[in-house]
Amino acid sequence: MQPDIIVTAPLPPFLYDPLKADYRCHDYYQSSHKPGLLAAEGARVRGLVQGGGTVTPTELLEQLPKLEIISVFGVGYDGVPVDHCRARGIKVTNTPDVLTDDVADVAVALILMTGRGFVRANRFVHAGEWTRRSPELTTKLSGRKVGILGLGRIGKAIAGRVSAMGMQVAYTGRKPQDVPYRYVSDLAALAKEVDFLVVACPGGAATHHLIDARILAALGAKGTLINIARGSIVDEAALVRALADGTIKGAGLDVFADEPRIPDALLELDNVVLLPHVGSATRETRQAMADLCKANLDAWFTKRTVLTLIPELQ
Ligand code: 8YV
Repeated sequence: MQPDIIVTAPLPPFLYDPLKADYRCHDYYQSSHKPGLLAAEGARVRGLVQGGGTVTPTELLEQLPKLEIISVFGVGYDGVPVDHCRARGIKVTNTPDVLTDDVADVAVALILMTGRGFVRANRFVHAGEWTRRSPELTTKLSGRKVGILGLGRIGKAIAGRVSAMGMQVAYTGRKPQDVPYRYVSDLAALAKEVDFLVVACPGGAATHHLIDARILAALGAKGTLINIARGSIVDEAALVRALADGTIKGAGLDVFADEPRIPDALLELDNVVLLPHVGSATRETRQAMADLCKANLDAWFTKRTVLTLIPELQ
């Protein structure tokens, strides 16, 4: 008997097809009659697969009384009600490590694109402007200061990359770590001293709107905000205001508060570089994430163990 699993996010075929081969899959995401699906199948469902950004409401979990495991296709699990899962003994797994390098690459790309004005320069060439005038001068990155909010796996990979570029790294987080970078306990103090403030911490209630008008004011006109983590960490309305009135210099964003919807005001600004949440979006990494996502389910349903349980449940 194949275990029943419910799928609450769009999945790529290289994950969904292997899942369908080994599990009885219920596509909640695509279903046009979600209450009917839950009424018919909810009581049988033992596993749930969702994306990193997917929000899974407690009310949905309450309709899955036999749920044993949530396997997240992503490293972030801010959309999972972890306390509810802990209370019910539901395992939660994610896909750490396999996407670290790609996400760190995107942070560096955003530093390069904003600091060196590469997006404007690209537009300049495409528009045939080069034959008419010289391109703008931008900012030398080597020697500049990068502040990292959240020095986890991804934060450390970013730190290594920008150090190799000759940039100076400082960081903030819950506690100082044994790393060759300077710890600054106060986020506003870190923002005040850096040229690039890179958001690399988990999303969720604990970090909601950590980057607000006060932090943006501290970052100031010399500073650029880079976010490769979660849109929820930044007060997006305050960010738009800070970008529009010159409170900060610019922003490089891969994540947004309400993806894929982006405020019109942000789209109109010239001092921002916007990416469609592509941190982990390479074929190699998405395949590795897919393999790990399924391997966690397989390990649970065959051996009652998992490979990458989230830290809160360890
Ligand atoms: C993915 C992410 O876009 O890993 C995460 O937390 O946000 C991204 O890597 C997403 O998980 C794909 O579902």
